[in-house]
Amino acid sequence: MTSSHSFDRLLAGPTLDSGAETLAAHRARLGDLPDFADPRDLVDELDASGLLGRGGAGFPVGRKWRALAARTTGRAVVVVNGAEGEPASFKDRMLMAVRPHLVLDGAILAAEAVAADEIVVYIGTEHEAATEAMGQAMATRIGEVRQRIRLVGAPIGYVAGEATAAVNFVNTGDARPTNTPPRVSERGVGGLPTLVQNVESLAYAALIARFGEAWYRSAGRYGSRGTALVTVTGAIARPGVREIELGTTVGEIAADGGGQPTGVRAVVLGGYFGTWASVADAWDLPLDPVVMGTRGLTFGCGIVGLLPSGVCGVDATAQIMAFLAAESAGQCGPCVHGLKAIGDATRRVADGRADRGDVGHIERWTSLVQGRGACHHPDGAAQLMTSALDVFGDEFVHHARTGACSVTGARIVAA
Ligand SMILES: Cc1cc2nc3c(=O)[nH]c(=O)nc-3n(C[C@H](O)[C@H](O)[C@H](O)COP(=O)(O)O)c2cc1C
Ligand code: SF4
Repeated sequence: MTSSHSFDRLLAGPTLDSGAETLAAHRARLGDLPDFADPRDLVDELDASGLLGRGGAGFPVGRKWRALAARTTGRAVVVVNGAEGEPASFKDRMLMAVRPHLVLDGAILAAEAVAADEIVVYIGTEHEAATEAMGQAMATRIGEVRQRIRLVGAPIGYVAGEATAAVNFVNTGDARPTNTPPRVSERGVGGLPTLVQNVESLAYAALIARFGEAWYRSAGRYGSRGTALVTVTGAIARPGVREIELGTTVGEIAADGGGQPTGVRAVVLGGYFGTWASVADAWDLPLDPVVMGTRGLTFGCGIVGLLPSGVCGVDATAQIMAFLAAESAGQCGPCVHGLKAIGDATRRVADGRADRGDVGHIERWTSLVQGRGACHHPDGAAQLMTSALDVFGDEFVHHARTGACSVTGARIVAA
């Protein structure tokens, strides 16, 4: 997809509809994989670049590699996280489908840096084009890669991409998160120290290895540095994945895809674990993990979901909460029961059949589930719910008091 604000680095190369880039084309474009005599030099470059993980949590990539390298005593594992169970995200499957060798380059460099002798490529089984492209790329390079490398299909599900769930699935076939400690960086796949890294983070590491940290930082708008893949959905004529310079505003991205502020009433940023922002707050917001963090918003995995004008925010939130409640891995009480209770109450409010005190209960239960799971699933859900109450608070109250929607004007008939 081209637009005035797109900026292709990860997606540079052949047109995206020409499918997976071959190894020959990849090497003709970018040259061989750089060989770092001392892998710490690459870790220094990553640190200096400021590259943050692109799987959701935004942890500094260089710092993670350095910590793992210090811990490994000869054997370790790299997990390439391409699970992408987030319903609003398409960027990881797209990157794997079109630039599989760039992702593999990053995985190999990571393995060298942390002294790993095995690479596990973990891809959502529903992402067929990505699985096909990565499988072919791995087969093409099998003789030249020092590490053992294998592909594992991630089961469908939101939580299956969480780092401990991914490791648990590879070890036991059970994609439920496990309690930490131990962290996967201490005891992961096969009991070995394990680096779990998102596919976009790895692909970017492969570019920084070739071009350096100053090059990484030479892109970016309004003081931000670097580029990122974002998935733009909702009230927009041309939805899809695009690469943007960090700092590009939500409004600029929307306008590139044919979106107008008058057609949008709120934006969900970062994904289902992310945050709602009103269109007034979001339109001039620079998409940048650091800037967004200072404003209590999340970059997450780069979702920009534009809620169309005239659509009920309470109903949209109820749909997301029902999804998140259903995706609980079912092993921690506050997550299993708390998210269901919040989701059910939000649905009642949305449908105009709120029980007395439902809005207050939603607020209270949301604060109670935080930090109460083995993984961050309930924290992400609570963050989304808290932001919904901020942005659509009046709507929640109006629904609860009158049984009618202040946005659509509809008197809601309970199902
Ligand atoms: C419920 C849940 C689901 C997640 N799903 C994914 C996923 O599909 N892909 C991914 O890369 N990270 C996912 N993560 C984040 C991972 O736990 C981990 O932080 C990430 O893979 C690390 O890579 P990064 O530092 O490059 O972002 C998820 C986290 C949570 C809490
Ligand atoms: S917090 Fe929820 S999703 Fe995470 S492990 Fe517990 S039950 Fe599963």
